[in-house]
Amino acid sequence: MGQELSDEMKEKRIKKRKTDHIYICLNEDVEAKKITTGFEDIFFIHRALPELNLEEIDLTTEVFGYKFSAPIMISSITGGAEEAIKINASIAEAIEEFGLGMGVGSQRAALENPNLRRTYTIVRKKAPNAFLAANIGASQIIRDYGIKELEKIVEMIEADALIIHLNPLQEAIQPEGEAFYLGALRKIRQIAESLDVPIIVKETGAGISAEDAKKLEEAGVAGIDVAGAGGTSWAAVEWYRAHQRGDHLAEEVGKEFWDWGIPTAASVIEVAQSVDIPIIASGGVRSGLDIAKAISLGADLAGFALPILEPAVKGSEKVKEKIKIVIQQLRTSMFLVGACSIERLKGAPLVVLGKTAEWLRIRGFDIDSYARREG
Ligand SMILES: Cc1cc2nc3c(=O)[nH]c(=O)nc-3n(C[C@H](O)[C@H](O)[C@H](O)COP(=O)(O)O)c2cc1C
Repeated sequence: MGQELSDEMKEKRIKKRKTDHIYICLNEDVEAKKITTGFEDIFFIHRALPELNLEEIDLTTEVFGYKFSAPIMISSITGGAEEAIKINASIAEAIEEFGLGMGVGSQRAALENPNLRRTYTIVRKKAPNAFLAANIGASQIIRDYGIKELEKIVEMIEADALIIHLNPLQEAIQPEGEAFYLGALRKIRQIAESLDVPIIVKETGAGISAEDAKKLEEAGVAGIDVAGAGGTSWAAVEWYRAHQRGDHLAEEVGKEFWDWGIPTAASVIEVAQSVDIPIIASGGVRSGLDIAKAISLGADLAGFALPILEPAVKGSEKVKEKIKIVIQQLRTSMFLVGACSIERLKGAPLVVLGKTAEWLRIRGFDIDSYARREG
């Protein structure tokens, strides 16, 4: 009986945290305030003579052995709460129609309580063919779960990849946080060696440095999602939660780190110039033009979470509308730089200015060669 009660309480706690995250992200301003992605520092060279037709541009690309109809992967958002069923279903239905990919939110909830599996399994039901990624946090693989559990979450959604998310900033601030990262790399290596699906390591809004990217590649991960700073700030989300419960300590820490991290554009360049594995650009990606810039800087796919949350709550038609806009913006960007394919977009010349240029020069990365490419 005591055990039952504590399981029930556990389930309630997880559901409450997941629901808090969804409602805070929907209703409050959770984006970075003083730090930006750096995409505003990236300028393509406009081609007045693109020598191609807008509608004939080929957006397809193959990454992780999957053919995406456009280089877009909706970032991991949710699961584990009632609201998550609709959100996951809406996104899954849309990406199935478009031929894209998505990640589910951390599946820890379903491991702790099998009743919550259905909040995740809905994605494979709605998206039998799309690229789907399972998700678990680094802290949980260190302390709580072994290969068996990870195989379970992959199998749960018949995932094409497993995302291990890194969120030291959020873990440090949230009251139930598990800020345990000692041994994470060793565990990631073990998982990469043991699991049959590709392992993608992803940040959650604070970016990945060249130093960490090299270690991850060496550990055998198949891809890196930089999820850099400039978009959703998890310090901000946890600040709102701390504020609601009157937790002054967490509030003050959350406030101080609201704008923490490596801006997304800088993170993409750092990682692209350091490793050979596929890169997903995310964190503050807000348009098809941002995606075009990210791809041209060296990413293979781009993703976003916050902009899809509100449409997903409303239903799959709204998600489809949003994705359609982003794809048309991407297509237009490619038209205006004269790129008929994703491969050509990767070679389109661009200029890196401002704080992003300063960051990269000081860190020893090459930015001049982007400006002198032939396209
Ligand atoms: C409501 C919500 C829940 C999220 N939950 C997860 C999660 O469980 N696992 C994960 O890897 N990322 C999670 N994220 C982080 C996103 O995948 C993404 O990395 C981050 O929000 C930055 O992207 P954005 O600026 O486009 O929102 C979540 C994001 C949102 C908005």
